[in-house]
Amino acid sequence: MKFQGKNVLITGGASGIGQATALRVAEEGAFVLVCDKNREKGEAVRDEIKERRGKAEFLEVDTTDERSVKESIAFIVNEQGSLDVLFNNAGVGGQEKKLHELSEEEWDRVVDTNLKGVFYGIKHAVPTMMNQEKGAIINTSSVLGFKGKKRSGPYNASKGGVVTLTKNAALEYGRYGIRVNAVAPGVIDTPIVDTWREDERKWKIISQANALGRLGQPHEVAEAVLFLASDQASFITGETLMVDGGGLTF
Ligand SMILES: NC(=O)c1ccc[n+]([C@@H]2O[C@H](COP(=O)([O-])OP(=O)(O)OC[C@H]3O[C@@H](n4cnc5c(N)ncnc54)[C@H](O)[C@@H]3O)[C@@H](O)[C@H]2O)c1
Repeated sequence: MKFQGKNVLITGGASGIGQATALRVAEEGAFVLVCDKNREKGEAVRDEIKERRGKAEFLEVDTTDERSVKESIAFIVNEQGSLDVLFNNAGVGGQEKKLHELSEEEWDRVVDTNLKGVFYGIKHAVPTMMNQEKGAIINTSSVLGFKGKKRSGPYNASKGGVVTLTKNAALEYGRYGIRVNAVAPGVIDTPIVDTWREDERKWKIISQANALGRLGQPHEVAEAVLFLASDQASFITGETLMVDGGGLTF
């Protein structure tokens, strides 16, 4: 049990990649604080972990609200005594629009969730991790942090921002024993890509456009997150690990 005694906070833990990571890390012995704005689904993940004899709690958190993020970190530190791993994973897709068609609100919704939320997480986690002189932070970027996609301006910008924010935080806090890395998933079978599934022909092309020729599964991203969070990755920081079935090399 690689994460026995470790305390792990996961945002966007109610669904998809966050849910898969919560289940896996709990299986490895961690206490997991499942944070999400979706209470119903988040409580279901907590209950599933408990049914499997794991340790978990759920907290309703909106990562675009700094106070909410701060309170979630205070909660796990007060209840459990430490914060060993933070997975800044909550994210949203965007309206499929060109930049000149986008309202400021539409831009802000995506960038505030996908990038500012990561900043809030790091900001409020590092004081505790600096005191502990250790900690691992993993952020969720995307292949779309590395390449452009039409009608995805705010998503492209937010996920590219996560890659360089990860490098910045790795530099700032490495001397305190804190490692900061990211994962960049390709197309993964979660509700966030549901709008793409509507056009069957297009979906077939999108979901197979990688070296392996298939859609990724949430547990395959979870394994990469667990690796980066573990002591096996003790000399890895500032990195973004592609988990895209060779999508970028395609
Ligand atoms: N699925 C993919 O193909 C794919 C590809 C690349 C990157 N990603 C990224 O992976 C991460 C997880 O997405 P997923 O695919 O598991 O999708 P998902 O929709 O299954 O899960 C996202 C979760 O984040 C939560 N969330 C959204 N906004 C929030 C907020 N402001 N506060 C708290 N929780 C919030 C949602 O309620 C949901 O439970 C996201 O950052 C996404 O951008 C996904």
